[in-house]
Amino acid sequence: MAVSKLAQVPKEKLPVHIGLIMDGNGRWAAKRGLPRTVGHKQGADTFGKIVQYCKKLGIRYLTVYAFSTENWKRPPEEIQALMKLLRDYLEELFKHPKEDACLHFLGDKTALDLDIQERMERLERESAGRTGITVNVAFNYGGREEIMHAARQFARDCMDGKCSPDEINEERFSQYLYTKNQPDPDLIIRPSGEQRTSNFLPWQSVYAELVFMDVLWPDFTPDCLDEAILEYLQRARRFGGV
Ligand code: FPP
Repeated sequence: MAVSKLAQVPKEKLPVHIGLIMDGNGRWAAKRGLPRTVGHKQGADTFGKIVQYCKKLGIRYLTVYAFSTENWKRPPEEIQALMKLLRDYLEELFKHPKEDACLHFLGDKTALDLDIQERMERLERESAGRTGITVNVAFNYGGREEIMHAARQFARDCMDGKCSPDEINEERFSQYLYTKNQPDPDLIIRPSGEQRTSNFLPWQSVYAELVFMDVLWPDFTPDCLDEAILEYLQRARRFGGV
């Protein structure tokens, strides 16, 4: 691997948590006259390489958008291909303890096939406690669904007498989100030229720096990540202050 452009950047200046919208697989495949599913497979390979690179840089949290609550509108064979990647590829990437990555899923698991739910839970269990990097895979994830899910659970807890509506604040509400106990993302990157966040981490991203890039996800390299981080380092983050 070539020397990172970030070699001179002190570790504490790097983003703690990076979010990635892995967009452009379909266009990458179409440009080559290949089925969209080939684009997703290539995108999964890119994902594996970027996890390794983030770990090498010392990034603590990486969240990737792999399947949104809106993606059910896609043709069944494309949905099946994405489920297959979830079944086989993630297992391959994360089963070895030497990978030192703690895997966590964000989203509503209950709509997925039972074997997939079990696999997700097993991977979460087996990788818990690994400290190299935490990788969140947002799968059947939608930001609005996450907030409704949290509100529903909070209301249930109120009805059970565990808390009262007057006690809610941002910190407590965050504990009902799929990202509970994790820091908010500092940087969100969307390749593929689209400039929107598409229901990705709306609660958590209010102070995230957004970087949009023209590269399609399967072509995204460690060098692209360096570029996005260098752009992030140029930004003045004031969090509402002066
Ligand atoms: C968006 O590109 C991408 C997706 C909906 C799927 C992302 C999935 C991967 C990168 C594979 C990794 C999978 C796992 C389970 C980790 P698009 O298909 O909308 O591309 P387009 O906008 O060019 O059509």
